[in-house]
Amino acid sequence: AGQQHTAHGNSLKLCTNAPFDPFEFEQDGTIVGFDIDLARLVAKAAGKPLEVVNVDFDAISDGSALREGRCDLAAAGITITPERQRQVDFSRPYFEASQALLTRKKSKVKSLKDADQVGVQTGTTGLDYVRQEGLEPVEYDDSMEQLLALQTDEVDALVQDRPVVAVWLTKFKLSGELKLIGSLDTGEQYGMAVRKGDDALLGTVNRALDAARQDGTYERLYKQWFGG
Ligand code: ARG
Repeated sequence: AGQQHTAHGNSLKLCTNAPFDPFEFEQDGTIVGFDIDLARLVAKAAGKPLEVVNVDFDAISDGSALREGRCDLAAAGITITPERQRQVDFSRPYFEASQALLTRKKSKVKSLKDADQVGVQTGTTGLDYVRQEGLEPVEYDDSMEQLLALQTDEVDALVQDRPVVAVWLTKFKLSGELKLIGSLDTGEQYGMAVRKGDDALLGTVNRALDAARQDGTYERLYKQWFGG
């Protein structure tokens, strides 16, 4: 695999999909979060300023945003899957996640099978999971639309990455209104993605992630964004 030319001047362009709290979300007009801070370490190691580009998640998960040159790097809580590994190259894993099933407090739904309408985000592993269970979910482009659909009774339940659902409940103080009724143990790992064959950038990403683990930066950022 050779190195590829990136013809967008001097910045490192990062594709993400906000909001996905606390990995990437808007605050005072800019996108911030755990993924953004990790990507900033990569940009620093590459000697370039970071430019954040917000795109639909399915353009990240199918690799098209990277292939079309809309960005060089993607960080969006992307689960490493064999199917996606055919479209993009992934860094070493940097985060572990499973899926969560969320419903309204007053709902009778106790498991996925009880739900008539399940909301998922387009292009995600949550969507794949619900389909594997034999249900056809309702798709939303954006995780906040997905959450709103549950709050407004448009769906009975939603499936989304557990770390994000956990942050929703605390950050938006929703534990009086919504309840987590299950953790679907999918054993997912997040990786950052680059265009297939972009070994130079992939090396930089992996070195930056390793260094962040070793020098305590990863732990500091984790505490900052997850309050752990
Ligand atoms: N981890 C899940 C996946 O890879 C969901 C990621 C959604 N990310 C986002 N920034 N909206 O499919």
